[in-house]
Amino acid sequence: MSDPAPNTEPDKAASSGIPVGGETSPLVIMELIQRLKIRDVMTRNLVTLTREDTMRRAQELMRIGHFNGVPIAENGRLYGIVSIDDIIRALIGGYIDDTCAKHMSTHLIVLEDDMPISFALRYFENYKYGRFPVLSRDRALVGIVSQRDINRVLLYELTAEINRLERQITRPPEDGIGDDLYMLREYPVVRHDFENAGKAANEIKRLLRERNVDTRVTRRIAVAAYELEINICIHSHGGTLAMIVSKGVAEIVAKDTGPGIEDVEWACQDGTSTANDWIRSLGFGAGMGLANSKRVSDHFEIKSALGKGTTIRCKFDLRGPAPQQEPSP
Ligand SMILES: Nc1ncnc2c1ncn2[C@@H]1O[C@H](COP(=O)(O)OP(=O)(O)OP(=O)(O)O)[C@@H](O)[C@H]1O
Ligand SMILES: [Mg+2]
Repeated sequence: MSDPAPNTEPDKAASSGIPVGGETSPLVIMELIQRLKIRDVMTRNLVTLTREDTMRRAQELMRIGHFNGVPIAENGRLYGIVSIDDIIRALIGGYIDDTCAKHMSTHLIVLEDDMPISFALRYFENYKYGRFPVLSRDRALVGIVSQRDINRVLLYELTAEINRLERQITRPPEDGIGDDLYMLREYPVVRHDFENAGKAANEIKRLLRERNVDTRVTRRIAVAAYELEINICIHSHGGTLAMIVSKGVAEIVAKDTGPGIEDVEWACQDGTSTANDWIRSLGFGAGMGLANSKRVSDHFEIKSALGKGTTIRCKFDLRGPAPQQEPSP
């Protein structure tokens, strides 16, 4: 049985933040938190009550299971959450035998199982809660995610990554990047299609790994590709993300059909964003995407025309040295 505690109670541990996804996060972390989905880390075994159950029953459940709260769900649909706060109020107010329906919190902040865990990390930062219920695309309650769930999986993945790197150090990889390596891939990116946003960047990374491209270069390419893909999805009318590999150079080209960027220099600075509340509520809008893409690239070029569109090119020398700075999310 796992802890189904809700997000109605601020979690003190959460307020100190998670030390990943911050300014000093190495590329390996950035790449992991973009690739892993919430469904890969969430807890699926939930203890729930129905709306007709009493607050007393919720209190019992919390006491026995050491939970901070109980989701109220029926046939997979989440209706609310009864938290310890609600129980304390019920005890003081003398209505502990009322139904949960009457006193549960219905103002819920939820995550979707398809989102990358970078969303969850930003939610933990933004909302200062320790856990979030997770819904599927068709709005069914499928799990709950806590900071501990994320830490556990990150630790596991990082261990696997370190083992891989160690193997690479002791046995130099076969070099698949001769001047003869040629690849051309183009992926459509649809406006506001958050279900698929990030998939093109993942596919690009997979292809480069398959060809034994240096892990650090691959990560830098994946970071730029992801940021640019998400930008097309969020800020543009739609477009394409392409990768061209030729003569030892990989180029990521993000092209869209508008609306264009008014002040390109401003947009490329750290922390500048036009994201509205809705975009921020999805976990984006820190204003770091373009700055990071520039930082990880050996060559960065952006052209934008208002009303027409934006084209961004990031080039990477597949054998060359890494740029001086790591990106900051
Ligand atoms: N393809 C695009 N079309 C139109 N505007 C864009 C595009 N890409 C970026 N922008 C503009 O540039 C700003 C900065 O982009 P950047 O990626 O750095 O930050 P963000 O997307 O707002 O936040 P973050 O990437 O940290 O989630 C955006 O807020 C948006 O105004
Ligand atoms: Mg962005």
